[in-house]
Amino acid sequence: MKFQAPKGTHDILPGESERWEWLEATARDVLSRYGYREVRTPMFEATDLFVRSVGESTDIVRKELYTFEDKGGRSLTLRPEGTAPLVRAFLEHALAHGQPIARLCYLGPMFRYERPQAGRFRQFWQIGAELIGPGAATADAEMIDLFVAIIRGVGFQDVTVLVNSLGDATCRPVYVERIRDYFGKHVDSLCGDCKERLKTNPLRILDCKIPSCQPVLAGAPSMLDSLCDPCREHFESVQAALRALAIPFEVAPRLVRGLDYYTRTVFEVHAATLGAQNAVGGGGRYDRLVKDFGGPETPAIGFSIGMERLLLSAGEAAGGAWAPDVCVIVREEGAAFEALALARALRGLHDSRPAKAGGLRVVVDLAGRSAGAQMKWASKLGTRFAVFLPKDPDGYSVRDMIAGTDEPKQGTPDSLQRWLLERAAS
Ligand code: HAM
Repeated sequence: MKFQAPKGTHDILPGESERWEWLEATARDVLSRYGYREVRTPMFEATDLFVRSVGESTDIVRKELYTFEDKGGRSLTLRPEGTAPLVRAFLEHALAHGQPIARLCYLGPMFRYERPQAGRFRQFWQIGAELIGPGAATADAEMIDLFVAIIRGVGFQDVTVLVNSLGDATCRPVYVERIRDYFGKHVDSLCGDCKERLKTNPLRILDCKIPSCQPVLAGAPSMLDSLCDPCREHFESVQAALRALAIPFEVAPRLVRGLDYYTRTVFEVHAATLGAQNAVGGGGRYDRLVKDFGGPETPAIGFSIGMERLLLSAGEAAGGAWAPDVCVIVREEGAAFEALALARALRGLHDSRPAKAGGLRVVVDLAGRSAGAQMKWASKLGTRFAVFLPKDPDGYSVRDMIAGTDEPKQGTPDSLQRWLLERAAS
């Protein structure tokens, strides 16, 4: 029987996994420089957590949840996103620690039963950050600045930041009524899905990509004309802060998001290289969610970046190739144990001492091949140095595979390691 990875999932293989590690390390570095600390939540949560936050009428909850009943009869769901679990953990463990501000982040796989296509999977990875506590526009600006810093950190510049405001509990319902009215008058020109959205979630009509809906969408009233004064002022302050930070952005009055918990600012970052699935990530303010989950009134804002999409758009810019620093070449079978011990020492790892920082990447051929075959393998791996065993009378014989030079090296494995580290850095 032949097995394959489930539809919509993908294996991350050597060659690619180094790019992932590099992306993760870069993102973690930027996040920690901004003061964000990681929370790792379970892959599954009570189903209700997502129904109550993401929203019953959203595509995610209606069509895309991986829900199952466990043996105890509980309804559980593989997390389709990271914000609701993080807010749950924030409240469960009182992560505010009495402070008015918490900066938290996460990184891991999410699950949505979507139709797979380029850049869209059923298991995909997100990097997310959530800023819980501040309601001021400066928080929105920090969030967008952080988002941009991560994607600039991984090396690409050609992105567009789209921002919009969805209003709050005062002005949004008025706007929803206005568009319900407007689309109600044009119902015959709407696609089947939009007819359904008109009943359940009229805001989502604004996000429809079907060509036949576009003329009606173009004439729809804008949320920005319906904002109440506090929401308008907030949105203006967000834009002023983005200008002060020199972050280029566009106001996108039709930007709505696929999750119901948003209030006021929403944003997405798009990359031209991604085609149809061109949002690298998105986020927004969710000032009611903490309270909805039983906590105190606490504004919050966050975003998630899709890692597959980020890597797709980063393309060749993504770093992280892997090659060994050293191959220990076993010229005689009798030297095999010595080769294992020397490799361990060059790695900076010992039988009795703690690991030293900054060891070398060292591999030994265990297939019992000839020295010539081992050298071919070492060169195919892109190895920098070959060290031959057993030793020659004048010490270790070392070949610099890039310079093509051979040198004998006297001394202990530790002194050989120091010498190789210096040479590798030069
Ligand atoms: P979202 O827009 O649903 O927001 O997802 C964020 C990003 O995850 C998308 O822009 C995309 O890059 C990636 N993504 C989503 N679905 C898929 C998929 N099926 N395959 C590949 N990538 C995908 C959220 O998840 C919110 N939790 C963001 C947020 C955080 N809002 C506030 N805080």
